[in-house]
Amino acid sequence: MSLPASGAPPPGTLTPEAAPVFRVRGLSQVFKTGGGKAALENVNLDITEGECLLLAGSNGSGKTLLMRCLAGLLSPSSGDIFYRGVPLSLVKDLHRRVGLVFQDPDSQIVGETVEEDIAFGPGNLGLSKSAVREKTESAVAAFGLEDKRDLSPRLLSGGEKRRLAAAGIAAMGCETVIMDEPFANLDYPGVLSVLSVIQSMKDQGKTVVILTHELEKVLALAGRLVILHRGTVRDDGEPEAVLDRLRDEWGVRDPRQTYVRAKDCSWL
Ligand SMILES: Nc1ncnc2c1ncn2[C@@H]1O[C@H](COP(=O)(O)OP(=O)(O)O)[C@@H](O)[C@H]1O
Ligand SMILES: [Mg+2]
Repeated sequence: MSLPASGAPPPGTLTPEAAPVFRVRGLSQVFKTGGGKAALENVNLDITEGECLLLAGSNGSGKTLLMRCLAGLLSPSSGDIFYRGVPLSLVKDLHRRVGLVFQDPDSQIVGETVEEDIAFGPGNLGLSKSAVREKTESAVAAFGLEDKRDLSPRLLSGGEKRRLAAAGIAAMGCETVIMDEPFANLDYPGVLSVLSVIQSMKDQGKTVVILTHELEKVLALAGRLVILHRGTVRDDGEPEAVLDRLRDEWGVRDPRQTYVRAKDCSWL
């Protein structure tokens, strides 16, 4: 995309080539009830197009808060977030660009059936009925939900519910996906099911951010590992190198204690 002569794009113009998907600068979040202690403190982070980033940290380290800030669901106390070069608050269609899979998959169910649930997002984009049907169909197929389409989403297993949430995001055409603790309360088939969702989103070139402390399940799919500890970024880099620098106090276990190399940590 060519920029105007002044060099600065007009307000609200996304700059996919020039800017990272997310740019976070000096982000802090302080709650009145937090006794003055920041829940997020001076977080700086660039997330680039097409990467699969793991955001790890112990419970309470600020992962979900950061996700809510990135998705525009929470205004930080201070700091800036840019999406493709544009201040987050000016990105009008953020909800259709950035899809979230919440930790509690039940909180995202909006349809009476699986098919209806997937159709909900594209149905709100002002598309024709046939376009909604086409997007829904392709997400049903891509996420292996054909035989569940007429079921109530509440009857799905935990892994299937997350697959359903991801299918809804795909049907909306979101280019960036953030998953909060996608392995929470899942059995082995559920974990496999979520991993295949992550792999297929990667294959589609989406930018994927996974918030988890269960590194061993997903490390093999990640190109980058960021450690959040008490609201600050403690390390950020290539997974194997970050694991080499892990410190006990950060509350993140090195999965290589049970595996030889980070790249062996795949359940796929
Ligand atoms: N609305 C709130 N008021 C006060 N403190 C909060 C609020 N929301 C989150 N926190 C605190 O912020 C910290 C980070 O929370 P969270 O992002 O949910 O952690 P994580 O997802 O890493 O487990 C926690 O200590 C939590 O108690
Ligand atoms: Mg959380």
